[in-house]
Amino acid sequence: MIKNRATITAIEAELPEYILTNEELSRMVDTSDEWIMTRIGIKERRILKETGKGSSHLGARAVKRLLEKTGTSPTEVDLLVCATVTPDHQFPATANIISHKADIKNAFSYDLNAGCSGFLYALATAQQFIETGKSKKAIVVGAEKMSSIVDYQDRATCPIFGDAAGAVLMEPGNGEYGIIDSVLQSDGVGLPHLHQKAGGSVKPASYETIDAREHYIYQEGQCVFKWAVSKMADVSLEVMKRNELSHDDVAWLVPHQANMRIIEAVARRMKLDKNKVMVNIEKFGNTTAATLPLCIWEWEDRLRMGDNIILATFGAGFTWGAMYLKWGYDGNPGN
Ligand code: UT7
Repeated sequence: MIKNRATITAIEAELPEYILTNEELSRMVDTSDEWIMTRIGIKERRILKETGKGSSHLGARAVKRLLEKTGTSPTEVDLLVCATVTPDHQFPATANIISHKADIKNAFSYDLNAGCSGFLYALATAQQFIETGKSKKAIVVGAEKMSSIVDYQDRATCPIFGDAAGAVLMEPGNGEYGIIDSVLQSDGVGLPHLHQKAGGSVKPASYETIDAREHYIYQEGQCVFKWAVSKMADVSLEVMKRNELSHDDVAWLVPHQANMRIIEAVARRMKLDKNKVMVNIEKFGNTTAATLPLCIWEWEDRLRMGDNIILATFGAGFTWGAMYLKWGYDGNPGN
């Protein structure tokens, strides 16, 4: 048994107030509630409207709430990792800004970009610091203002994404609960199919890149769809197999919320009953690095100590992965 097994001991989230409905979107581009619901499964998504506020605003609010809920002093936190594809700035890291806003002064903090798999990669990264004894209280945040890189003239991408943040506290547990295993993978072959064309060092911002609308998400949906279904299912099945978990042993699947059809296909391949699958894509859309914590946060009341949970993701890169964890506490201690 691992001595300091990294365990999630609390979770919080932050959602902007503004709700962008399919009805409003259908007045912006040539689309309909019917198309979006059938092809993606999203009814509405949250948008951070206030100017001058970025992903750190959402992330810091989630972190502050997490500290309050657990009675943790900001000075006790020794590590903060922020997964995001929409950092406040190219530099410094959004994690540094979140730590500053939340009065976290004794932690080293950094960003991690693994597309929609960012939160899973960040959990696996923080896990290493906890298990080596280097960190005693780590915070992992997924924070995204996706609306800052969505082209609201492109009907193929604008219905998909939303803004949100989710944060977890990770601590060394008694060895029985926490992260048991994970499979993380990536393949740079994904670049042409899902990326932002300009604004990086290959193509810095210019009048031309702005005129060509190259500062937004570019996605070849069908290609990404096929990869997402097969890779998310493959790694989820692999992590189940090597930990000798049957579909009956799995209490919950937490899938990345990119498309309802992808979630259903992955659950089918894992032979999981749909009641065991966390789904909130209808309300929040794809919030990239925030989808996993947003699901767990909504389901926290129903989680029980010892529940076998599989997290599964797929995103830009391509990146993908699955993690098996044994949940460490009963229900929502904040209630
Ligand atoms: O989170 C990171 C990973 N991302 C993903 O996992 C996303 C994976 N991809 C997908 O979820 C889907 O491919 C999309 C939701 C992006 C698109 O759904 P699709 O079923 O693959 O549609 P499509 O791109 O094949 O387009 C089908 C048709 C096209 O029209 P034609 O060429 O058949 O006339 C599109 O122009 O649907 C049209 N279309 C729309 N129609 C109404 C595309 N977007 C819209 C829209 N409203 N919003």
